[in-house]
Amino acid sequence: MMMDSALLLLLLWALIGTTSPQASAGPCVERLQGGERKTRACPRTCKSDAECGSKRQCLCDGECGLSCVAPGRTCPWPLHSNENLVFRLVSATPSFSALLEVHCKPGLTLPDGLDVTVRRCQGDRQWSGDEPICAEAQSPGHTPPPTCPLPEEVINTFSIHGDASVGTSIRYSCLSGADVVGSRENFCQDNQTWMHPHPVCKKLFCQPPKEVQQGYVVAVQKTEYEVAFDIHYLCKKNYRLDGPQKITCLSNGSWSASPPHCRARCVIPAERSRVVIGGVKRWPFDVTDAMVPHGENVTFYCKHPKKQCSFTAAQACFDGKLQTPECYLEPTWLQYKLFPHRLVSEIETCAPGDVE
Ligand SMILES: *[C@@H]1O[C@H](CO)[C@@H](O)[C@H](O)[C@H]1NC(C)=O
Ligand SMILES: *[C@@H]1O[C@H](CO)[C@@H](O)[C@H](O)[C@H]1NC(C)=O
Ligand SMILES: *[C@@H]1O[C@H](CO)[C@@H](O)[C@H](O)[C@H]1NC(C)=O
Repeated sequence: MMMDSALLLLLLWALIGTTSPQASAGPCVERLQGGERKTRACPRTCKSDAECGSKRQCLCDGECGLSCVAPGRTCPWPLHSNENLVFRLVSATPSFSALLEVHCKPGLTLPDGLDVTVRRCQGDRQWSGDEPICAEAQSPGHTPPPTCPLPEEVINTFSIHGDASVGTSIRYSCLSGADVVGSRENFCQDNQTWMHPHPVCKKLFCQPPKEVQQGYVVAVQKTEYEVAFDIHYLCKKNYRLDGPQKITCLSNGSWSASPPHCRARCVIPAERSRVVIGGVKRWPFDVTDAMVPHGENVTFYCKHPKKQCSFTAAQACFDGKLQTPECYLEPTWLQYKLFPHRLVSEIETCAPGDVE
């Protein structure tokens, strides 16, 4: 009796073999515990027809394994095609183990990229699997390829070489010029995640800038300075700042500028002649210490070689050095004392046409 039903079963398998997935997939699977079972109720498990009563048979029911099923009972049919799907019954009737092809309408594909899937009529009178969802086929010309995310802080920290799309690599270099700590290269995986964590940029420090002669640093002296640290400079009395008053440690470990210089003032190299300083004609002895600050222009009076008139020539004070122009002649003590009105700085200035 048991032998007979086993034979019958074999015969049945042979008959539906061309359409049944079990026929080619080999023997019936063991019923799974958990997993697939959660999504559907499996009929009673069995080893032979005898366990299933008169109306049912012990048949292979997909992932439920051998189960007591009523082979004559059918799954819902016809199914209502939705706007994206077309159904085609492969078997003659929608009864147990019948196969159903589900196609996507032209231009649409299933999530796996295919345009057809097969569902089987189960022992619980439901078609296996879920109703598939067809979507617009991905054509490379129209939709941009999926990419892996690049957070803003990564974009602000690194120069990224590569386009972060799935299946490609990118390379990092620190915008600050610092060394990359971590993986310099990363790969965008199929699930749009990065293979490695993003690297970091090594923190840079600025080295102490060179000292400023005759100047002060308005900051705590350190062996290294962190990024964005400011150093302010002041010059000693009578020295003038030439350069930035402040330098800042940049994120690449360089200072925003070279330190400034403190430049010395100059002695006015004239005594017995007036000169023009800051637009005012003055005797040098009337000027404080007879000196001008660094960068100041001093205008001297020279005598025209042929005409009895004077013209001017300017010289700038640079860090303690101020020379008289070549044309300038310092009056003698006698000239100064006896003929003060004939000093070159006191005679008539030449007309514009007189000086070439
Ligand atoms: C993405 O895929 C990789 C490799 O295939 C895997 O190691 C990782 O866990 C997956 N990440 C997520 C969030 O699925
Ligand atoms: C640091 O950055 C500044 C401004 O971006 C640049 O002028 C300087 O050359 C850089 N220094 C180095 C060592 O890269
Ligand atoms: C001095 O003269 C130079 C050139 O004529 C000018 O550029 C500069 O601004 C002058 N300096 C001062 C302090 O007036």
